[in-house]
Amino acid sequence: MKNSSLRGHPSAEAVPAAEPPSTSNWDILRRAARSCEACPLYQNATQTVFGEGPRNADIVLLGEQPGDVEDREGHPFVGPAGRLLDRALAEAGVDRQKCYVTNAVKHFKWEPRGKRRLHQKPNSREIATCRPWWQAELKIIQPRCLVCLGGTAARAVFERAVKVMSERGNIVETTWAGRTLITIHPSSLLRLRDPQEKEREFTRFARELALIKE
Ligand code: URA
Repeated sequence: MKNSSLRGHPSAEAVPAAEPPSTSNWDILRRAARSCEACPLYQNATQTVFGEGPRNADIVLLGEQPGDVEDREGHPFVGPAGRLLDRALAEAGVDRQKCYVTNAVKHFKWEPRGKRRLHQKPNSREIATCRPWWQAELKIIQPRCLVCLGGTAARAVFERAVKVMSERGNIVETTWAGRTLITIHPSSLLRLRDPQEKEREFTRFARELALIKE
């Protein structure tokens, strides 16, 4: 493990937060999340996209927020970034079916651009407001490993901005998992134009994901 200045036990940020029911019943939690209006993002989203996967998963993958496809279909990581994540997990020898997959923010944030819905990054307030939902999921699942996919997930977990490019590949203990890995978000690979760089970065991403098996 490289040196990391990250500490995984921060104090809570003071913002109005979502209030999930206090329950260890995942179905009740999921149902309650459907009607969350704690921040304005629900207004333009089709639906809440809650986490999915085995409730006794060893590994939780935490993304940013649902994308266009996820918003329509209601499942996390089923669009282009999800397909890339699937490929990287397969290359890393990690079975996605055994992972619980969720997001730091549960509604799709977007702005219209012609006929398209253009992804917008959630801000720190939206990330903080949504935090109790993934925390409630993790309290139920109690994973051994938590993977922060990109800056938004890392920010949600560490409650401050994290320099993903210098912290990637690091594994630290947090309140949420004995092993918390910081890595990139798969959508950053989709934006690369040079095929060789794309291949190189994909391999690096898969190697980082493989660290969670150790
Ligand atoms: N990007 C994410 O962070 N999460 C998804 O579910 C889809 C794309």
